[in-house]
Amino acid sequence: LLQAAIDAGVHINASCGGTGVCGTCKVLIEKGKVETTRTEKLSEEEYEQGVRQACQSRVISDLTVYIPVESRLEKAIISREEKVAPEALATGWRFNPPLSKFFVELPPPTLKDNTSDLSRVLRGLKHQYHLSNMTVDFDVVRKLPQLLRDSHWKATVTTLVTAVKPRGAEKRRPRVINIEPGDTRGKYYSLAFDIGTTTVCGQLLDLNRGKAIAQGIDYNEQIKYGEDVITRIAYCQKPGGLKKLQQAVIATINGVINQLLTQTGVELKYIAHIVVAG
Ligand code: FES
Repeated sequence: LLQAAIDAGVHINASCGGTGVCGTCKVLIEKGKVETTRTEKLSEEEYEQGVRQACQSRVISDLTVYIPVESRLEKAIISREEKVAPEALATGWRFNPPLSKFFVELPPPTLKDNTSDLSRVLRGLKHQYHLSNMTVDFDVVRKLPQLLRDSHWKATVTTLVTAVKPRGAEKRRPRVINIEPGDTRGKYYSLAFDIGTTTVCGQLLDLNRGKAIAQGIDYNEQIKYGEDVITRIAYCQKPGGLKKLQQAVIATINGVINQLLTQTGVELKYIAHIVVAG
């Protein structure tokens, strides 16, 4: 029954991840039949009333189930965290994003100047911004020819300098991670996520202003597979368990991203970077 509820997107608390020992998944069977393994978590009286542990009940027929308030998510937790000021998480940090955007205007190719598109972009970055010794992501190279011609050789290049030197590299080199048509320097955003056991909190940052402009929060959907980390680790040992937990946290993150974009009207394509801690 617990699995059926999860599949249907209905939350029932399941602190022990469905092993039958916590008793947080109690529900009242109002109509229909289940086959239940009774544990000491269920009193005689509860059993008589039709209360069952969802994780210990096999569904035999169509059911009408009442989920008592103790078996639902505790809404108080999330409303308390919503009051955190958007800038609070960034307090004390110096604004110094690892990303930069550079607008380049390039001369179109001619018979005398027939260098490749990539060399043309790198040459533009060197002449206009004195940038050199850069690496370029393959995705960027792949879209260059069409993008440069469609945008009449005006484009915005996003570079990333990681805080840590990549393994095996001699030194940190700026890396071109994106190129966009036209001048998009005014639209320059990043996402920061904190993945907690109970809640996932995200901030949308305007990298031009150095400010968090929106904050979103939601319950970590992994909660339905266990309330604490140990139970979730145990759940990962089950066949397909790891994948389910991964999909649950991705769904939560995507939901929070949606909240942030809806709140601000920022388009997804202008999110240049995302940092996740957990
Ligand atoms: S007893 Fe059912 S989830 Fe713990």
